[in-house]
Amino acid sequence: MTAPFRRALITGASSGLGRALALWFARQGVVVYAAARRAEQLASLKAEAPEHIIPMVLDVSDADAAHDAVRALDESCGGLDLVIANAGIGDQMSAEKIEWSRVRKVLDVNVMGATATLCGALPGMVARKRGHLVGISSLAASVSLPQTAAYNSSKSFLTAWLESLRLDVEQHGVAVTVIHPGFVKSELTAKNTFQMPFLLETDDAAQRVGRAITRQTRFFAFPWPMAFVVWLAGALPRPILRFFARRTL
Ligand SMILES: NC(=O)c1ccc[n+]([C@@H]2O[C@H](COP(=O)([O-])OP(=O)(O)OC[C@H]3O[C@@H](n4cnc5c(N)ncnc54)[C@H](OP(=O)(O)O)[C@@H]3O)[C@@H](O)[C@H]2O)c1
Repeated sequence: MTAPFRRALITGASSGLGRALALWFARQGVVVYAAARRAEQLASLKAEAPEHIIPMVLDVSDADAAHDAVRALDESCGGLDLVIANAGIGDQMSAEKIEWSRVRKVLDVNVMGATATLCGALPGMVARKRGHLVGISSLAASVSLPQTAAYNSSKSFLTAWLESLRLDVEQHGVAVTVIHPGFVKSELTAKNTFQMPFLLETDDAAQRVGRAITRQTRFFAFPWPMAFVVWLAGALPRPILRFFARRTL
């Protein structure tokens, strides 16, 4: 499969899904601007595909600065045709540990950071009538679970925002893909203490996501057994859903 893109920006490319996605697209011949905070990890990523990876140190939690940096990149590189807002963090909080500073940190990265990244590239794409915006949301966007209120709601936002944005931008030649992954091996999931059903290898997940983006799939939830469980959970009456959700931890 050959990716129909020349220049891509992927945030959160220093580890996990973002790193594997950067390599997947680089191997298709796409020039990938690989963004994250940790320069050392980005340098080791570049070493794996030196001709196609361009490291970019970027902290998306400073949303205004991230927006301006993406805008400047789009203007200086000849136009981004793919932007993947992948950078994301989780923070499991029991009732005693819920603190505004921790909730805010999750929202700053997953909501403000992702939105700012995609908005930074949007005007150029609309003007060129060509481009593709991708949000790495989560199956968690569609379920309410204990201790993950900030994370789950941040992903619900990203999905809802992109699904709405698509209605405005598709007619201007800009495609939008929303990705709902299940559990994937990464630094994020390495912290989980609970069992993760249908856990995927990182490269396997990146290949599935890369293919879905290349095919211009509008919405992609995977792996299907996990996506089916989440869909089924959503169809349950709320009291039954709450009964089971309380027992997941
Ligand atoms: N793994 C899963 O099971 C799973 C499931 C559903 C959805 N997702 C989503 O997939 C995405 C990737 O997560 P992952 O599982 O691959 O986790 P990961 O290995 O922890 O990767 C997270 C990436 O985000 C970057 N990041 C974090 N804070 C940032 C900030 N302030 N500015 C810029 N970059 C930042 C990290 O880089 P630096 O620390 O170097 O900045 C890292 O490259 C996330 O959006 C996550 O919510 C993951």
